[in-house]
Formats: sequence, structure tokens, C-alpha cells
Amino acid sequence: MTGVTVRVPAKLNLQLAVGPPRADGYHGLVTVFHAVSLFDQVTVEPAARDGVTVTGEGADRVPAGQDNLALRAISALRAAVRDRGPGPVHVTIAKRIPVAAGLAGGSADAAAALVACNELWAAGLSQQRLGEIGATVGSDVAFALLGGTAVGRGRGEQLTPALAPATQYHWVLAFADGQLSTPEVYAALDRLRAARAAPSAGSDRPGVPPPAGPGLDAALMSALRSGDAARVGPRLSNDLQPAAVALFPALRKTLTAGLELGALGALVAGSGPTCVFLAANRERALELAVSLSGAGVCRSVARVSGPVPGAAVVPAG
Ligand code: C5P
Repeated sequence: MTGVTVRVPAKLNLQLAVGPPRADGYHGLVTVFHAVSLFDQVTVEPAARDGVTVTGEGADRVPAGQDNLALRAISALRAAVRDRGPGPVHVTIAKRIPVAAGLAGGSADAAAALVACNELWAAGLSQQRLGEIGATVGSDVAFALLGGTAVGRGRGEQLTPALAPATQYHWVLAFADGQLSTPEVYAALDRLRAARAAPSAGSDRPGVPPPAGPGLDAALMSALRSGDAARVGPRLSNDLQPAAVALFPALRKTLTAGLELGALGALVAGSGPTCVFLAANRERALELAVSLSGAGVCRSVARVSGPVPGAAVVPAG
């Protein structure tokens, strides 16, 4: 076999409920993942030594050494299948998912690398096992393997599929001119919550208590099952949004513009800074994408739909 190519989707979080920081530094989550039709393509080929080449959207910002998440995932897989003689590989990543944009592009590439090497080495690991290996590399890797729409708990790696993919939702993504670091956005949320929890000086008004454990939004799930985008739009929510907007104030203008231009709902993608808008149908998404790019409130726009399947081998030829 010469090489294996895998196509892997970006993810949105239709709900992202964040609990307090855990002892391991991560935050407990309840999230509704949704895979959309913006794909990276990852090819692995046998080589003299492990290496990676990255092309496409934001390629210069992806680490090309052992820090690359795809190479880290491959090392973890190799450790798990040592007896099947996995040799060195060269990884070529063709990026369309922007880097550090809240769309889990790095986790997607790690998931694709796992599926590709599992095939190349005829290792025969289940998706469940690949997900466990992937979760050691990034919180969103397990979902990039699964795709569709799924509820994530824990760090986001404990997944329950949520929806038959019968309804397609139409989204417009507004890419920002800049990036946000996921750990910095979580840290900013912790600071915002600590400030709110403190009683305000000179007043006897008590502070706002921190949220209890995060919970799944039953109204969002019911709206999603109905397939009615007009019901889904108002239920989209992201606890990280105030922190992302505090660190990247221009996002406020982008979100407002999308709603004024007729989006059914708007939110920041994951830890941002991409903004996500839900449209009633394909035509409305096209109109919204054209008006948003004309409004000058983002670097560029893309129209995507979801749910789509997770990482999958692209048939040769
Ligand atoms: O797992 P991943 O590499 O995607 O996460 C990046 C960083 O985001 C983590 O190191 C952590 O600081 C933060 N994070 C978190 N809680 C989560 C997921 C990520 O605090 N559930």
C-alpha cells in the first residue's frame, strides 16, 4: 500500500456548558457537538522517518515538528499497536479548517491521522479504541472520529450520538482576522466568574454564585430533533462566549451584524474567534454569506452544512 488519505470535518458546539476547573486543570463540560462540511485532508505514507508537511489555510501557523497533533496521535497509536510493526510515516495535511479558530482543526487532523494509520498498518482498532487514544492528544479528537451530532461530557471526550442525520442545517461561518488560544479563553472565563462571585465593594449585595455542574439544554435537543432551524437558532449557547468577546471585542460587532442580517441564531464557535450563524435554508445562507462579507465585519466567510460523518478514508483513484 502506498498511502492512505482521510477527510475529516470541523466541529461546532451548538451548546457549550462549562463547569468550574477540575483538579487536572481541565473544565468539566456538557456540549452538543455538530460536525460540518468544512474538511481537512490528511495523507499518510510510509517514509524513512516520521515527518509532516502542512499546506493550505494557515499552514504556516501549524507546528511542523513532533508538537504537531497528527504526529502526536500517531506516536500514541504506535505505542498501542507495537506488535503490528508500525513503521515511520510522512503526514501531509491539506488544511481548510482555520488554525486556532474554535473549530477543532488540530483535533481533526489528529483524528484523521489515527484513521489513516489504522488503515495503513492494518491495525484493526475500533473507533472506540482510536477515540481513547485520541483523547490523550486533544479533547475534541474522539468527536472528530464520530462526527454527526453528539453530546460530549467530561472534557468532551465522552460521547453519546444525538441525532439521525436526516435534517441538514445550513450555517455561515465568519472567520476572524486573528486567533484565540483555547487555554487563555478558559482562563478568562474563570476570571470573569471569580469577579462576578465576589461581593461588590461598598455594597452588601452578595456575589453571583458560580454555576453548579453544567447541564444539557433539553430545549435545544428537542429543537434539534424537530429539524426546525427557527427553533434551534434561539437555543444556541456558549459559556465561553463572554470570555472570547472580552479578549476579542470585535466579535461583538460580527455577531450583531449577522443577527441584523437575518440569522436565526449566532454564537462564537468553541473558544473562538470564528462566529457561527444559522440560516433557515441554503438560499438564506447564501444571502447571509454575501451580506456578511460585504459588511466588512470579518476576514472571510464560508457556507457549510451539518451534520456530516466523522473522519473517513477517501477511496483511492
Ligand atoms: O484538549 P485540548 O488540547 O483541545 O485543550 C486545550 C486546552 O484547553 C487545555 O489544555 C485546557 O487549558 C483547555 N480546556 C479546558 N477544559 C476542557 C477542554 C480544554 O480547560 N474541557
